[in-house]
Amino acid sequence: MQSSNITFHEGKVTQGDRNRLLGQKGLVVWLTGLSASGKSTIAVEAEKVLLGMGKVVYRLDGDNVRFGLNSDLGFSERDRFENIRRIAEVCALFQDAGIIVLASFISPLCTMRQLAREKARGSFLEVYVKADLLTCMKRDPKGLYEKARKGEIKNFTGISAPYEEPQNPELVLNTERDSLEDCVSQLVEKILEKSTSHTVDNRGNEKNTTPCL
Ligand SMILES: Nc1ncnc2c1ncn2[C@@H]1O[C@H](COP(=O)(O)OP(=O)(O)OP(=O)(O)O)[C@@H](O)[C@H]1O
Ligand SMILES: [Mg+2]
Repeated sequence: MQSSNITFHEGKVTQGDRNRLLGQKGLVVWLTGLSASGKSTIAVEAEKVLLGMGKVVYRLDGDNVRFGLNSDLGFSERDRFENIRRIAEVCALFQDAGIIVLASFISPLCTMRQLAREKARGSFLEVYVKADLLTCMKRDPKGLYEKARKGEIKNFTGISAPYEEPQNPELVLNTERDSLEDCVSQLVEKILEKSTSHTVDNRGNEKNTTPCL
């Protein structure tokens, strides 16, 4: 619970100052989709392409974050929400710092993605990395579907836990239909479009215009 004895301490450097220094605006790019849909594979390639274009970009990835910041959390619905809540806060800090964050998290519930969007205060792209369950089960790069099918993993998205498809994402990447290269170029194009087109208010924040539902 939040303490009642805390006061936000304003600084003298604004988000606009940081954006001018970096020559870019911060953006949270939230990749959601089933396990094995391709989120991490696409984010890794997109990070390299964007860095090559001189962009300051950083990847946050589901498993990686669970090695450190969220090593105390499991996969119950409560822990999954806490996982996303912390990540959404971290993404918002990166965004405020002027960095393009590529966040790859299954984030199965619409309310989780909505939370991340609200924290980013409009500088947010929801990207649905789409592949159907059968394709993901066939790919199974980490052998997780096999374990889930045998009951060795509880609360596995798509098998024993729900995945709510995004209703209104800014971008859908169909990884069954399009090659990895195509998916990466669609993503990079959207990021460049968004990072040059959005308008900001005098605190450097854009209004949230595209709700999840
Ligand atoms: N067009 C594509 N885009 C991305 N990945 C693809 C594509 N086509 C096939 N793949 C394959 O799909 C698999 C995706 O695995 P990846 O680890 O990226 O999934 P993920 O969504 O990050 O899963 P998890 O939620 O478990 O971390 C890889 O083996 C990759 O080679
Ligand atoms: Mg991944």
